[in-house]
Amino acid sequence: MKIITAKDYAQLSKAACDIVSDKLKKISQPVLGLATGSTPEGLYECLIERCNMGEISFRNATTFNLDEYVGLDETHPGSYQYYMKEKLFNHIDLPIERANVPSGTDADLEAHCKAYEEKIREIGKIDIQVLGIGVNGHIGFNEPGTSFDSRTHVVELDPSTIEVNSRFFDSIDEVPGKAVTMGIQTIMDADEVVLIISGENKADTVAAFMESDVTEDFPASILKKHPNFTLIVDEAAYSKVQTKA
Ligand code: PGA
Repeated sequence: MKIITAKDYAQLSKAACDIVSDKLKKISQPVLGLATGSTPEGLYECLIERCNMGEISFRNATTFNLDEYVGLDETHPGSYQYYMKEKLFNHIDLPIERANVPSGTDADLEAHCKAYEEKIREIGKIDIQVLGIGVNGHIGFNEPGTSFDSRTHVVELDPSTIEVNSRFFDSIDEVPGKAVTMGIQTIMDADEVVLIISGENKADTVAAFMESDVTEDFPASILKKHPNFTLIVDEAAYSKVQTKA
């Protein structure tokens, strides 16, 4: 595990942006695994800026998002399809047909999960997977207790996740109880994984991550076993780690 400690959120976003930009420059047909939530917003702003400046291009890229709420379609502002268009896809030169986000509204979600997994397999592999972490240690929507062998599947969201994510909705009652998520094994199959964690509200989570054994009770702990894993963390999020790297 490589750890990059950034001074603040802006520096963290730039560090992540540098790593993703490097992939876009070096790989002829890069495959990016993307995340939603508050944490990657700065990364996406940076990627948009560099794309507009002509420093990087997504023309030959393919993207796969981690997850989507069950029941929300792309027109719902709380959906991750909507988020990705707003925060990234509408502002870069990525051919939209190569932007993959799981569907939360497919009539046969089980079949959709299999097809999503198959699509990743067909393309070969995800070159770099960007991740955030939930306060409970989830990655994607793989909540504590999820099997490390899991592939793309439908999940029941933790009450804690519903509560934390209610800030993106008008009321907590509107947050869907289920989601589709890439599995933990799907994430671990990526060539490289970058986990970005920012802010004081994640300080306990980062401390727990650093101290945790590799256990399904804390899904992100498996990343310690990934051969090409980078944790990018800002000082506020790193503040409760006892033994600093
Ligand atoms: P956040 O979400 O970036 O909005 O904190 C991270 C996550 O829940 O995976």
